[in-house]
Amino acid sequence: MPTDLPSEHVTVTPSILYFGTPVVLLSTENENGSFNLAPMSSAWALGHVIVLGLGAEGQTAHNLRSRRDLVVNLPGPAQWPAVERLAPLTGRTPVPAGKRGSFRFEPDKFAAAGVRPQPSELVRPPRVAECPMQLEARVARAQPDSTGDFLIVEAQVLKVHADPRIIVSGSQHIDPAAWSPLIYNFRHYYGLGPELGHSFRSQTA
Ligand SMILES: Cc1cc2nc3c(=O)[nH]c(=O)nc-3n(C[C@H](O)[C@H](O)[C@H](O)COP(=O)(O)O)c2cc1C
Repeated sequence: MPTDLPSEHVTVTPSILYFGTPVVLLSTENENGSFNLAPMSSAWALGHVIVLGLGAEGQTAHNLRSRRDLVVNLPGPAQWPAVERLAPLTGRTPVPAGKRGSFRFEPDKFAAAGVRPQPSELVRPPRVAECPMQLEARVARAQPDSTGDFLIVEAQVLKVHADPRIIVSGSQHIDPAAWSPLIYNFRHYYGLGPELGHSFRSQTA
């Protein structure tokens, strides 16, 4: 990537603006008591609230409007093939008009992805056993975005599960040298490069 100042920027009209955010897998409960699993990347943390941007027509948005429990599962970079196996699927039937032709209905996304459901402790949807970090959460607020195309969800995290290998031993800290997110960068999957530095607020070495 060039690091010198460009002589002049040009204006472009990209079709998407997914500039590189971590992938999460959302477990939610369907109306019939089965569970859905969907990849998304428009997710970030505000304290212990996770803000999610979800397509309004998807099964996940549908589920979270009426059943508030969810798990935010965080896969690592090596899990991108499982994420991509979920990419062309929807838990919604009939398949919403906007997805017809490119998505198909799949009632068992855990099996389709090749991942194992692991019971949660405080919420009904299961965790994804293979994900090194799993956040049990409950919707605190869900409202349409300004276009009506998306549902903006604020989910309160109730419990954090972490693989012991990503914890700074003897502490409550996630070790950023051990944990690495899977990044969705303009529809391509990336891991992180080596550490560049740390924030003045970091509490880990
Ligand atoms: C890596 C990745 C990231 C995605 N990010 C989002 C997202 O942030 N928001 C969203 O609504 N859909 C996102 N999608 C698309 C959904 O996964 C897709 O619409 C899926 O059909 C939703 O499943 P559902 O209908 O069962 O909820 C993403 C897909 C992939 C593969």
